[in-house]
Amino acid sequence: MSYESNQLLSEYLLMHYGTDEHLMPWSFGPKDAIGFPVRTISHFPKGDVETSLDLGCAVGRSTFELSKTSKHVTGIDFSDNFIAAAEQIRAEGSIDYPMLETGKQNKQATACLPQGSRPENCRFLSGDAMNLPEDLGSFDRVHAANLICRLTEPEKLLSRLPELVNPGGDLVLATPCTWLDAYTPPSHQPAGDTLEWLKDQLKPAFKLEKQSDEPFLIRETARKFQWTVSLVTHWKRCF
Ligand SMILES: C[S@@+](CC[C@H](N)C(=O)[O-])C[C@H]1O[C@@H](n2cnc3c(N)ncnc32)[C@H](O)[C@@H]1O
Repeated sequence: MSYESNQLLSEYLLMHYGTDEHLMPWSFGPKDAIGFPVRTISHFPKGDVETSLDLGCAVGRSTFELSKTSKHVTGIDFSDNFIAAAEQIRAEGSIDYPMLETGKQNKQATACLPQGSRPENCRFLSGDAMNLPEDLGSFDRVHAANLICRLTEPEKLLSRLPELVNPGGDLVLATPCTWLDAYTPPSHQPAGDTLEWLKDQLKPAFKLEKQSDEPFLIRETARKFQWTVSLVTHWKRCF
């Protein structure tokens, strides 16, 4: 299943860059689920680093957040449509998009470069997280939010991570554990608990530092929302 449609592009631009009022236009509703692509980055330790990688970056919000503390950040996504939007925000500072109200009624909205981000530190590439370029290099921070349960063979990425994260470096993985046969054949899904499976897949190269839960919100229309809770784990690459 692909993330190329214009409807998904609008939903992700809104999720990553939308105002609180656009994202939850009701006085009731789960406002604490707004800002997920910013909150997952806050799970990295404080301080500046040289290099970061954002896998499954979609339209790029977390990549821009990483640029506040990283000299070089690479955002990679399989969707050319998402990467083109992220690249337009990087190069031009904004992109206009339609925001679905109800039925076929749209409002225009604009996604802007987040304040304090350093677009000159960012680059966006189309690519497959299960088959990354051999010469991609290694990074001080690697972030992959809501990606692993959208891969056909997540083990291909998990087994590459020891090479991608520098010794002493940090990995933040977020997953809502919504394993679906349409994305991941059952033989490649965890048979039991996702966290236990991750520990098994990532040992002995990574030590689990912390786990937490982060809600996120995708607005489909002004009257229909997806509210989900992601399991966020922070891992340290062992020396
Ligand atoms: C559920 S979205 C999460 C996006 C973003 N990280 C976030 O938290 O909002 C999954 C993203 O992974 C991307 N994706 C799916 N398969 C991929 C693959 N094999 N390699 C790289 N990206 C992939 C999709 O295009 C989509 O942008």
